[in-house]
Amino acid sequence: MSTKNSGGKSFHMKPGEFRRWGRVVVDWIADYQEGVADFPVLSKVKPGQIRDSLPGAPPTEGEGFETILDDVANLILPGVTHWQSPSFFAYFPANTSGPSILGEMISAGLGVQGMLWATSPACTELETRVLDWLVGMLGLPEKFLSTSSGGGVIQDTASSASLCALLAARERATNFAVNDRGCEERLVAYASTQAHSSIEKAVKIAGLGSRNLRIVDVDGDFAMRPDDLAAKIEEDKSSGFIPCFVCATVGTTSSNAMDPLPEISRIAKQHGLWCHVDAAMSGTAALCPEFRYIHDGLELADSYCFNPHKWMFTNFDCDCFYLADRAALIQTLSVLPEYLLNEATKSGAVIDYRDWHIPLGRRFRSLKLWFVIRHYGVEGLRYHVRRHVELAQNFASWVSKDERFELAAPAPLNLVCFRHRGGDSFNQTLMDGLNQDGKLYLTHTRLDDRLTLRFCVGQTMTEASHVERAWENILDKTAELENR
Ligand SMILES: Cc1ncc(COP(=O)(O)O)c(C=O)c1O
Repeated sequence: MSTKNSGGKSFHMKPGEFRRWGRVVVDWIADYQEGVADFPVLSKVKPGQIRDSLPGAPPTEGEGFETILDDVANLILPGVTHWQSPSFFAYFPANTSGPSILGEMISAGLGVQGMLWATSPACTELETRVLDWLVGMLGLPEKFLSTSSGGGVIQDTASSASLCALLAARERATNFAVNDRGCEERLVAYASTQAHSSIEKAVKIAGLGSRNLRIVDVDGDFAMRPDDLAAKIEEDKSSGFIPCFVCATVGTTSSNAMDPLPEISRIAKQHGLWCHVDAAMSGTAALCPEFRYIHDGLELADSYCFNPHKWMFTNFDCDCFYLADRAALIQTLSVLPEYLLNEATKSGAVIDYRDWHIPLGRRFRSLKLWFVIRHYGVEGLRYHVRRHVELAQNFASWVSKDERFELAAPAPLNLVCFRHRGGDSFNQTLMDGLNQDGKLYLTHTRLDDRLTLRFCVGQTMTEASHVERAWENILDKTAELENR
């Protein structure tokens, strides 16, 4: 077969053009960072508005890069909610930072697919090293080190990590029979009323079925009640069910409640359940020795995850997932077709992360994490985490000193749950009004069946002045509503 040279025709962006536009894009991002505080935090567009502003069909001929960038500013930015605004106090944060973005760019530039050690040894080995660093940085148990029976892996999200933990739990409880024969209807899992919705999703995906997720009661501080967990396990066992998994949360999404890990992990061990610990946002606090108490009891847990993409200045996506016994997960997920076989894998001397998570392919995510840790250093990271906690604690003290407001839950770290004493509809109007003004963004939850406002300090650039201004805005809006 003859291959004809097409005369050098190409539509690719040439390195020179890439260099030029790359610089423009980096400037664009830096300008955005400098100006992000001036945007209304919550996007004001109506449903469908952005889609309708875009052409119904793609361009037949390629377009100039300048036009594309103009469209980002004119068509896309109005539909962006500014998660990187220092006045973003909603949900949990989704951090970025300069070093993280630059690490992400290099990862994209290298375009590595690190499914096997052999497909890019550095992609695997940097990840292993950085995840081992984090064991020391957070004071996690040594069993999570790659040099022990366990190890860590970067997943896209905490949702995926919890799903993997549940799959391994399912297989351990059935001696790998479900992998072979399909699901066993008697398997049951446990999580508190306050666990993240990803646990119920995992239970559905793993084939246990939501009716086999037991919802454990919480105490007055919204933390799981170990006595209720133990009672539910006993009851299930005596009814012929097979308890296999419990998820404890360090820092629940609604209120930042801390489930009592020592008791939960002990009960799990006693009954042979896999204990997974979801510390999606709050795990980062353990960088600071004074907050490490949140992980007390982790020594008995089987797996653990936290998200540097929430509160460790690393852009989405980056979840660090640790296992005490990596073999359980690998045996659960391993499938090795001929086309992936290679000498390094056969030697057993390398880690192939392909079977540590659901997808086969994997990006070079450890680069951005490595950049962040090296740029800030452990002390730099601690400084900013401590600062966020201090700012949230200041906010909590202002709330508790104003008799029109009340704290709705303990605020152990950087999330403050509070409400005006005027009832649900007052709080709803207050929150909607604040968010519509665009000067800040906060979101709500329900605690004790009452509408509760959540104020989470964790955005990379948030300083004291932003928190002070937010409280002033809350007070101004409150006065406006009270005087209506
Ligand atoms: C406690 C907890 N777990 C899990 C999640 C889900 O995180 P991800 O988006 O990484 O799946 C969240 C998100 O806020 C969370 O707060």
